[in-house]
Amino acid sequence: MNIEKLIKNEILQQEAYFIEDSPCRIKLDANENPYSLSENLQEEMVKSLKAIALNRYPDPGSRELRRRLAVNLEVDEEMLLLGNGSDELIHLLLLAFRSNPAGGIVIPVPTFAMYKIGAINAGHKIIEVPLDRDFDLDINEMITAMSRFDPDLVFLSYPNNPTGNLFDRDKIVEIVSRSRGLVVVDEAYYPFCGTSCLPDLRSWKNLVILRTLSKVGFAAIRLGILVAQPPIVRELNKVRLPYNVNALTQEVGSFFLEHESVFHDQVLKVIDNRQMLFEALKGLEGITPYRSDANFILFSCTSEKNRIYSELLSRGIMIKNFSSSGPLGLCLRVTVGREEENKEFLRVLREILHQ
Ligand SMILES: Cc1ncc(COP(=O)(O)O)c(C=O)c1O
Repeated sequence: MNIEKLIKNEILQQEAYFIEDSPCRIKLDANENPYSLSENLQEEMVKSLKAIALNRYPDPGSRELRRRLAVNLEVDEEMLLLGNGSDELIHLLLLAFRSNPAGGIVIPVPTFAMYKIGAINAGHKIIEVPLDRDFDLDINEMITAMSRFDPDLVFLSYPNNPTGNLFDRDKIVEIVSRSRGLVVVDEAYYPFCGTSCLPDLRSWKNLVILRTLSKVGFAAIRLGILVAQPPIVRELNKVRLPYNVNALTQEVGSFFLEHESVFHDQVLKVIDNRQMLFEALKGLEGITPYRSDANFILFSCTSEKNRIYSELLSRGIMIKNFSSSGPLGLCLRVTVGREEENKEFLRVLREILHQ
């Protein structure tokens, strides 16, 4: 058997998504919440998990958790679809939509890698529109691409990963109002900026909002939230696997809602730490940090970014590196950690810069 003859061409041409997995003492590469749960809350959670009937399938469609989230987000239950992280929801959207040979999926770049990977896997053509020099949407180029390719889906990460900024809202309004298809506004980093397009769902029927618990303390359990008009959710439900969100995750989702203030306090600490980290990076010669509305900071290095990255890693500090070609060729991205982690990162970075 020749496996290469059986696999789709677009899959053969891809590399599997690479996640750096070196042992490290300080992990600042994946935009996770650096704070863990208190002992008390851990015990409380274990108690609620114990009550789950592990021999039974989970609540299909996560009805109870959807009911609670609907109250929390002030939307109808029929507007919610939950997934195994927002990664799964991105894949569901791409699976459900036709792959239009004349058109494609429009994304500004650089942005979150999974839009492109999912689009290629689902057989879509992908149209990448470079961001402008301030990492904002190049609205003329976006509108030109949309007129030419008439995309069924446009993905906007808001704030954008990996640049960290919120796009200009007027530009989003223009994209949504001009789009014949759906515009997906991915608000994975919403907690760190408090700016959302969720209220716009009332007036923009072609808008889809994505949220996740991954950035606020529950990356391990994989819970993504999609909010859209009920007819959109109804169609996506046909593509969703019946038990895509397991019972433990559903329970932890409810636990999160019951204790939201604890996680909100952690977010506030991250926002404070972000400011301190930004100011400190700004003071380093050869480093230019970009303002961030998320829980990470992108920074460019005038030289040797691969050396800086490898030296940090060899000293047990993991951040995110990007391909040396392309718009992020000089850039690295660091997740905002706990105060002591940020201090240690800065101390080691200073040493590396002075070597
Ligand atoms: C913009 C954006 N959307 C979605 C995700 C993935 O979220 P999840 O962990 O819920 O799959 C990430 C993760 O880094 C992200 O940066």
